[in-house]
Amino acid sequence: MNMQTTLIVALLWILAATAHGAEPGSVVAIIGTGDMGDSLGPRFAELGYTVIYGSRDPDGEKAQAVVSLTGESATATTQREAAQAGDIVILAVPWPAMETVAQSLGSLDGKIVIDVSFPHEQGDDGYYVPMLETSSAEMIQEWNPGARVMKTFALQASYVIDDPGIVGGPVSIPIASDDREAKEQIADIIVAMGLDPIDAGPLRLSRELEAMQRLYGVAFFQRRQAAWEFYFRRSYYWECIWQDDWSEPVVDADNLAQIPETQGDPVACPGTR
Ligand SMILES: NC(=O)c1ccc[n+]([C@@H]2O[C@H](COP(=O)([O-])OP(=O)(O)OC[C@H]3O[C@@H](n4cnc5c(N)ncnc54)[C@H](OP(=O)(O)O)[C@@H]3O)[C@@H](O)[C@H]2O)c1
Repeated sequence: MNMQTTLIVALLWILAATAHGAEPGSVVAIIGTGDMGDSLGPRFAELGYTVIYGSRDPDGEKAQAVVSLTGESATATTQREAAQAGDIVILAVPWPAMETVAQSLGSLDGKIVIDVSFPHEQGDDGYYVPMLETSSAEMIQEWNPGARVMKTFALQASYVIDDPGIVGGPVSIPIASDDREAKEQIADIIVAMGLDPIDAGPLRLSRELEAMQRLYGVAFFQRRQAAWEFYFRRSYYWECIWQDDWSEPVVDADNLAQIPETQGDPVACPGTR
């Protein structure tokens, strides 16, 4: 790392040590400079976030190419230094590396930590099987009890982050976390990226998101020419069809995030029979 990068990282570290906000201007540490890192980094940078990559080889050609792609304010340093500088820390490394990485970043207390990983392997029949009884996000939370962990940006390919328009319709981005405020902060960022955030409930619902990831593998391992991808479709029919009391949630209200409506106001009972 050169002197200028060292000074910038030190300054970012001091700023991050004082407050963890998610507003533009705060620091996003992206651990890993692969497909997901080099898709999310530029999107955060264009929204005014300072992006710092954590890499095993921060001065290497690959990390420096990702820095150049991201823009002038981006830098690369070690994984630990990047994480310490970040208000938001995105763990964009393969699951098999996660246990070591997630426990070697220093204290992540108070930081929003985003897990995008796929904790799956191919079973004897060729399809994905889970590698965990719970979820990667819950494991990361266990290793870092003071972090504000969430699973998000996990159900779409990196090229969709680069250009959400490529799939020809709204791209839903579910967010599962026990931290309501963190979900709301990241939801605002997701909207600013032109994507459609969905409150997917508490962190344990990461298990269901990870189960959905496994479906992506089906057509892939079948080696079908036409694969498929899936996004949530907005629906307003439930309140009309189920005549229950709809006035109060029947889940933990403290975890319910205020998520911006990206597809207009809800429509009252449209076209019900
Ligand atoms: N690609 C997608 O479309 C996509 C979509 C959703 C979720 N995901 C998930 O996102 C995560 C990253 O995926 P990716 O496609 O970006 O993977 P990738 O292209 O293989 O890049 C992962 C990066 O992690 C770092 N890394 C790799 N092995 C490591 C190790 N043993 N220890 C520490 N760091 C290591 C490397 O960065 P340095 O060389 O700079 O250290 C590498 O470039 C994975 O968990 C994946 O399942 C990917």
